[in-house]
Amino acid sequence: MKQRENKSLNEKHVIKVALYGLGAIGCSIARLLLEKKGVKIVAAIDSSPEKAGRDLGEVIEAQTSLGITVSNNASKTLSERKPDVAVHATSSFFKDVFEQLALLVRHGVNVVSTCEELSYPWVADKNLASELDKLAKQHGVTVLGTGINPGFLMDTLPITLTGVCQEIKSIKVERVMDAANRRIPFQKKIGAGLTVKEFEKQIRNRQITGHVGLEQSVAMIADALGLNLQSIKVGAVESVVAEKPVESEAIKVKHGDVAGLSQSAYGVKDGKPIITLLFKAYIGAEEEYDSVTIEGTPSIKQKITPCVHGDYGTVAIIVNSIPKVLSSEPGLKTMKDLPIPSAAIGDLRRHLHG
Ligand SMILES: NC(=O)c1ccc[n+]([C@@H]2O[C@H](COP(=O)([O-])OP(=O)(O)OC[C@H]3O[C@@H](n4cnc5c(N)ncnc54)[C@H](OP(=O)(O)O)[C@@H]3O)[C@@H](O)[C@H]2O)c1
Repeated sequence: MKQRENKSLNEKHVIKVALYGLGAIGCSIARLLLEKKGVKIVAAIDSSPEKAGRDLGEVIEAQTSLGITVSNNASKTLSERKPDVAVHATSSFFKDVFEQLALLVRHGVNVVSTCEELSYPWVADKNLASELDKLAKQHGVTVLGTGINPGFLMDTLPITLTGVCQEIKSIKVERVMDAANRRIPFQKKIGAGLTVKEFEKQIRNRQITGHVGLEQSVAMIADALGLNLQSIKVGAVESVVAEKPVESEAIKVKHGDVAGLSQSAYGVKDGKPIITLLFKAYIGAEEEYDSVTIEGTPSIKQKITPCVHGDYGTVAIIVNSIPKVLSSEPGLKTMKDLPIPSAAIGDLRRHLHG
């Protein structure tokens, strides 16, 4: 551990984790943590009245009581339980979670968060990002936003592939998902089953916000490569209209109705897009894939098919990042600042200082 006051965090110390946010993702992370060695869940925080006051085991459907009561009083819980690290999974927007993160940091707790905008928070709010960085350094802790996307597939992975390039002319990253294979709330979040009119209305009143994080991924790639972008352009959220009837277990989409959505973002340099990100999630996608195309010396074409499962991937990268965050220098970090991502097999403590 570098520049940390808490020298007790070593191979003998069981890593104490607080869960902050027990939605679908927080609960899945909790279940994976229960299977891991060298780590112990010591606290659980959630604002939902249906969860607060209940035993964590019941909330995450672990079929056994865990002796941890879910609390809606974060400050009191953190003071009493003194976790080393919090797994934070409450919301997508940096400004909405800033106070939650600041509270964790003030309690001397490291943070690994699924908040999309925290993956590269200088895009959403430069001043708040500097404030959080300063606070984390003052308290000797590290804060990281990560996940499958943003956090890995459309930023960390292409950045890593450029490690063997002498010159880069352009980078294009695509993620295409068949939403029928994803959770029902995700299918609803992308407007599957709506008419085009209903979809457009839900976009206008922000019931459908689309995928959060493309701008952050472009910015992270540009920063890692030292590209001095003129601008980052984010395209509008567009409907993907079904060309024939398609369905998932939960949703039937008629021909001409909305099967899902697509979005794009560009990093522009010298008037041309040097970074292009394309994201598509819809029911009935014939091919699911994650691809990275780098034009340069050498050029690289990489395709993962089918695409990486979003929920499994997010849960994994959050847990795998815990020892890396605990071993990092204090401050607000992004995935490009940490050692290369890797699975933390076996006892999590074995991966400290890695
Ligand atoms: N980067 C990535 O690749 C990635 C991947 C997956 C998910 N995510 C993001 O991770 C977040 C969590 O995902 P999810 O599907 O689990 O979301 P979710 O189902 O909405 O769960 C969030 C949970 O946090 C609770 N919560 C909200 N505000 C809180 C607060 N101030 N204090 C304590 N608890 C609070 C919510 O309670 P209420 O129900 O009372 O609001 C809910 O139980 C989302 O923003 C999602 O977009 C990112």
